[in-house]
Amino acid sequence: MKIQLTTLQQLQSEKKLRVLIGKTPYLIVLVGEKPYMIPDTCPHQDASLYEGTLQGTCVTCPLHKATFDVVTGDIDEVSKMLYFDFGPEKITTYPLRMDGDSIYVDWQETI
Ligand code: FES
Repeated sequence: MKIQLTTLQQLQSEKKLRVLIGKTPYLIVLVGEKPYMIPDTCPHQDASLYEGTLQGTCVTCPLHKATFDVVTGDIDEVSKMLYFDFGPEKITTYPLRMDGDSIYVDWQETI
């Protein structure tokens, strides 16, 4: 299922957006000219990553500062040791597509 999430113009002006797919929040960020999407909920204690900071390709959680790479899904090594001893190894990243000014996700999961 193809879902339109936002427009490039809106993302360029806000740099990051929180969107809902069904009832689940996701974070969309712009890195350079490319949009990326990850779950908005931190896998440690559920803080909203939208409230965190974006630096380069990494989003830092506002609560305990775990850092997630929006391109690769990698979690920084210190946070892995402190908070994610039993997983996850990575967070899910969702490839987005652009069609003109619109940004889409090809959604495979149940809503
Ligand atoms: S809630 Fe995000 S690092 Fe703890």
